[in-house]
Amino acid sequence: MNIEFVAADAPVEPSSAVVVLVPDPAEVPAGGVLARALTVSRFTGAAGQTIEIVAPEDMAADRLVAVGLASGENQAIEMAAGHAWQAVKASGSKILHLRLEGRSSIAAAAAGLGIRLASYRFDRYRTTEKAEKKPSVHTVRIEVDDVAAASGADAGLAGLAEAILLARDLVSEPANILYPEEFARRVKALTSPALEVEILGEKEMAALGMGALLGVGQGSVRETQLAVIQWLGAADPKAQPIAFVGKGVCFDTGGISLKPADGMEDMIWDMGGAGAVAGLMHTLAARKAKANVIGILGLVENMPDGNAQRPGDIVTSMSGQTIEVINTDAEGRLVLADALWYCQQRFKPKFMVDLATLTGAIVVALGSDLAGMYSNDETLAANLLKASEASGDTLWRMPLPPSYEKQIDSFAADVKNTGGRPGGSITAALFLQRFTNGVPWAHLDIAATAWRKSSSNPVIPDGATGFGVRLLNDLVAANYEG
Ligand code: BES
Ligand code: MN
Ligand code: ZN
Repeated sequence: MNIEFVAADAPVEPSSAVVVLVPDPAEVPAGGVLARALTVSRFTGAAGQTIEIVAPEDMAADRLVAVGLASGENQAIEMAAGHAWQAVKASGSKILHLRLEGRSSIAAAAAGLGIRLASYRFDRYRTTEKAEKKPSVHTVRIEVDDVAAASGADAGLAGLAEAILLARDLVSEPANILYPEEFARRVKALTSPALEVEILGEKEMAALGMGALLGVGQGSVRETQLAVIQWLGAADPKAQPIAFVGKGVCFDTGGISLKPADGMEDMIWDMGGAGAVAGLMHTLAARKAKANVIGILGLVENMPDGNAQRPGDIVTSMSGQTIEVINTDAEGRLVLADALWYCQQRFKPKFMVDLATLTGAIVVALGSDLAGMYSNDETLAANLLKASEASGDTLWRMPLPPSYEKQIDSFAADVKNTGGRPGGSITAALFLQRFTNGVPWAHLDIAATAWRKSSSNPVIPDGATGFGVRLLNDLVAANYEG
């Protein structure tokens, strides 16, 4: 989206929809047509309300739109800008002219972010869509008091917007286009020169003993990859880093424990965790974060060919622990078992946070507004909950009860990869905990939040959400820089 900041007296061009944000209809000066429209309707200024009128003939604009504004806070401005976009995008107007004079540059940048997130559309494979079905708005012009300050503040947030859109793109791509090697290529391509990216292939992983991760990819013709991304932005590049690990299952058929056909296509987005970590690393580099941060992505496809692993197989993980694979569809935890172990062995991080579209059980437990958070460390858990509030990527803390461990004890091996239906997200987390080697760790089960089917949030259109990018960026910014 083309976003421009213009001075408060800039003329309104033809084909514009002029948008004002209205916290209280009583504040709109009486006499105008818009004021009259507000008085004769039920407009209260509540968040999400919009009123549109066709502009009178003597105005250059097409239409005037009032959008409710819950409060003057930046989050509310961002949301209101999102509502403005949703109200106007397909109106026929070509320019969304948003009036923010009298508000801060930070508020203007928040509006810019809201527009960028709201206007995201994964449409690269729509070749026959008629013009009248596409958004009509191609430019957003934001009227501000100080153009230079607003542009500067906006540039400061542009990397974050890019990172969220990058995560959405990665997650939206179908599996025939985005398989592990292609994901790895895109991670290499996105990088600023200061981001260091290494890609480990199957040979290197075999040498490291990653039998759990490699077992998952064994039934696919695509090569399994492990991407290791380093951003060393702290004053001392040797200072102990923090680490983020993402589940990147580019497609999850379930393997030999095949999923039912109905809805299987949803499993193109089984790499929401890896997408979020890739996005995070991009935004850290874009804003030159003063922290040493490691990002690790386990990239693999879970397919059922003649070489695929079977239920009952026993694999040896990099940690040395053996795993009885009861269900090949519980593959995410096998990917993370080796990725987490590798992470703590090689980097000795202060903590590790993993993100994974791990279980259907968390979808049942928490629905689509909350991700499940598990942690063995109170400080990390508290910092994550604070970042959750600040970012809008909301978390709900879940327990790690030792008494459930027996559900994943195995008769034949050290651990088994499923614990039955009761507490399915919890036993998955307990499984991961066995591969953390006691390092402070948190696990985010984002199975329900990585993708939205009927979103009511204007800055999260249906489809891939980019959940986690903002959360982790806020976590790093608030606690681990300087
Ligand atoms: N990728 C799925 C989890 C998932 C389910 C994500 C629904 C998004 C929506 C994961 O690999 C999986 O298949 N989990 C199984 C585990 C079970 C076999 C123990 C599940 O949750 O059913
Ligand atoms: Mn699965
Ligand atoms: Zn999966």
